[in-house]
Amino acid sequence: MFVVLLGPPGAGKGTQAQALSKQLGIPHVATGDLFREAVANQTRLGRLAQPYLERGELVPDEITIGLVREQLERSASRRGVLLDGFPRTVEQARGLSALLTELGKRVNIVLRLSVPSDELVRRLSQRWTCRQCGAVYQLRAGPPDAAGTCGACRGELYQRTDDTPEVVRRRLQVYFERTDPLVSFYRQAGFLVDINGDQEVNAVTDEILRALNQRRLVNPMTLDGHSGSAKRSLGGAARKPATPRG
Ligand code: AP5
Repeated sequence: MFVVLLGPPGAGKGTQAQALSKQLGIPHVATGDLFREAVANQTRLGRLAQPYLERGELVPDEITIGLVREQLERSASRRGVLLDGFPRTVEQARGLSALLTELGKRVNIVLRLSVPSDELVRRLSQRWTCRQCGAVYQLRAGPPDAAGTCGACRGELYQRTDDTPEVVRRRLQVYFERTDPLVSFYRQAGFLVDINGDQEVNAVTDEILRALNQRRLVNPMTLDGHSGSAKRSLGGAARKPATPRG
């Protein structure tokens, strides 16, 4: 199953992709995470991407499509993937379609997460990420709330350099100029499903699972082995505790 998570910065794409990856057993590919890792390691890709990330601009399409091609060619990604933050332009959407056609696959569903802009800005200003395991938190009063360490692995928490108010403004502007046109692109193709991202994290996951079930993309029997949230949203068993993210 090839799932695209579409939505502005802070809409919860990464949060949902992490939860769904566990429940559905398919890998989560986030172009933003791949670029940040490349920047941290100062690889050739990282040195190319760094100035774009720092300004909140998009990395050029040919570089980004090449990066996703490498991921999709890996055997683990061939049976399905949750794409978080890709595609972000119509050119990238066409590139994805061509890549999947080569593999004999296609996009199955595009989940568009909608959240009001003031809530996006609030979430990004309060986002802290674990350097070690990548868990993401909302910390109203900053890391002293959590002793500055990750609740899951005790790794150090940090704030992304592109979460400053100035860069967030630019990222939102870039989203509405360059990525929002994908909404009509995918709606016309019949792939788009609107999801209310402005509700509690588990409620968003449940809405997504219902959408996947309605389109016969998940098998409730297969999900039985995963978590309570999946079963619950498909009319199954009792609630289990949420994951550490959020
Ligand atoms: P990327 O890392 O993809 O950033 P983004 O799209 O701006 O998305 P975010 O990671 O900021 O938000 P999210 O929607 O994942 O929200 P999250 O779940 O973390 O891209 C960074 C940069 O890389 C780009 O600017 C560009 O330079 C480059 N790039 C990446 N992909 C590219 C591409 N395809 N083409 C070209 N360039 C590319 O949640 C945010 C916060 O909210 C967290 O604290 C979380 O805990 C909290 N939260 C989540 N859900 C909820 C909820 N339901 N209620 C309350 N809080 C919530």
